Amino acid sequence: MTDIWSRLKSCRQAQGDTSITSLFDADADRATAFSTRADGLLFDWSKTMIDADARDLLLDLARNADVVARREAMFGGEKINETEGRAVLHTALRNLSGSVSVDGQDVMPQVRQTHDRMAAFANDVRSGAFAGQGGKITDVVNIGIGGSDLGPYMATLAMAPYHDGPRTHFVSNVDGADIADTLKGLDPATTLVIVASKTFTTIETMTNAQTARDWMAKTLSDPAAQFAALSSAVDKTGEFGIDEARVFGFEDWVGGRYSVWGPIGLSLMLAIGPDRFDEFLAGGAAMDAHFRSAPLADNLPVLLALVGIWHHQICGYPTRAVLPYDNRLMRLPAYLQQLEMESNGKRVAMDGSDLTLPSGPVVWGEPGTNGQHAFYQLIHQGTMPVPCEFILAARGHEDELAHHHILLAANCLAQSEALMRGRSLDEARALMEAKGLRGAELDRQARHRVFPGNRPSTTLLIPQLTPYTLGQIVALYEHRVFVEGVILGLNSFDQWGVELGKELALKVEPLLKGEASPDHDPSTEHLAQAFRQMRAD
Ligand code: F6P
Repeated sequence: MTDIWSRLKSCRQAQGDTSITSLFDADADRATAFSTRADGLLFDWSKTMIDADARDLLLDLARNADVVARREAMFGGEKINETEGRAVLHTALRNLSGSVSVDGQDVMPQVRQTHDRMAAFANDVRSGAFAGQGGKITDVVNIGIGGSDLGPYMATLAMAPYHDGPRTHFVSNVDGADIADTLKGLDPATTLVIVASKTFTTIETMTNAQTARDWMAKTLSDPAAQFAALSSAVDKTGEFGIDEARVFGFEDWVGGRYSVWGPIGLSLMLAIGPDRFDEFLAGGAAMDAHFRSAPLADNLPVLLALVGIWHHQICGYPTRAVLPYDNRLMRLPAYLQQLEMESNGKRVAMDGSDLTLPSGPVVWGEPGTNGQHAFYQLIHQGTMPVPCEFILAARGHEDELAHHHILLAANCLAQSEALMRGRSLDEARALMEAKGLRGAELDRQARHRVFPGNRPSTTLLIPQLTPYTLGQIVALYEHRVFVEGVILGLNSFDQWGVELGKELALKVEPLLKGEASPDHDPSTEHLAQAFRQMRAD
């Protein structure tokens, strides 16, 4: 552990019982000094225990880890995903006028060509120039999982006010319930099925794709004509029978969880149209430009990462909650779970040594205000502090329901205020006294109504949830993950832990069918036997 980590830990220890509110008492400018604005966004990180000393040390951490050099290596197409020998260039998908080479070859002509083919196809589907065997496409079913589902699903839900294309549906789970429920009520003759899989081998996706084809084949003479494929394994899409005119490829330097900006975003493009999709790309590209040009102390992704490191690696809080006060961002926490936990949930450093610091935290969340009526109890009064990341838009889309939006925003700000301030025993006692309680019963009841406060949170304020701001938010979190990964010294771009799951299921499958399958533990064999028995009963 370097000197900076030790000094950060000492800094935290020296804070002792100091409260966040006392930091405001000591610094009249804290609210503005610990808020950062960039391109219309406001990131308020003042309701944390990060004081000027901690901030300076955290920035030293970023400098010491050479975040700037690593960042430029990423944008420059160097193979920073060292365990897979790959460049990391999802940023190229959203900077269409840029130029970047991998292995000495400019990748942008291909990126632009694929983008333009996607746009032409999306326009054809939306206009009816490309039709199903029963007429204009009314429904699009995206079949994918992980990064081939979470990004487009999250973004398509978020962009509901801009939908003017076919209805979009998402199937991910190999549980037959998912595809059965989705296809129920759809007309195969006017449905377009998109098979989204970077590798085109993922068992869940290929099983669902086959089921969708069988469903179409019951009534259509040429089901494959209503399939499109999004993949970096274009050879395999041909084997599945999808015409290459409807295959949109991408390179292995686009990680699954970073892939919504390219072909994997086709369902979003179909829903909102290519122009709006380009606004989404522009938002992401603007965040890239900010990340590359802003000084570390004013750099949103860097600051978001440093707040994360402060709370997890320094304060030791095991989880963080992402709480969008925007119902249309309901899938953002799930999306960020993959982005953050698949990227930084590692125990080995880039050089193969053991990580000496905790890896990334557990990420979870739900939109407000719903979460308030579920798990906020624990956030306010549980024994374990949970740093909260609130996201709020100044304006909603429902002008006629503006009073809803004010109430939503009031709840968001009220929660972060209450988390920080809490309610003292004296205040709780006064409340109980006003209700007529006295003596031991007053004491007992008052203690249940105490809120410890001093619970940290940040707030990201955006003007409105638009394609552009959604692009900013997604790129902001992507770069946050990158910065945290660089500071921890791990590779944020591989996912060996999940690859294992893909292999294991294939080994267990024969056991469930009663076929010979060696090398299982007694509990698994016992469960498999019980499973077979219950199915037979
Ligand atoms: O779950 C592991 C993973 O490799 C993710 O990283 C990826 O997003 C997902 O599987 C889907 O993979 P594919 O797009 O190749 O089907």
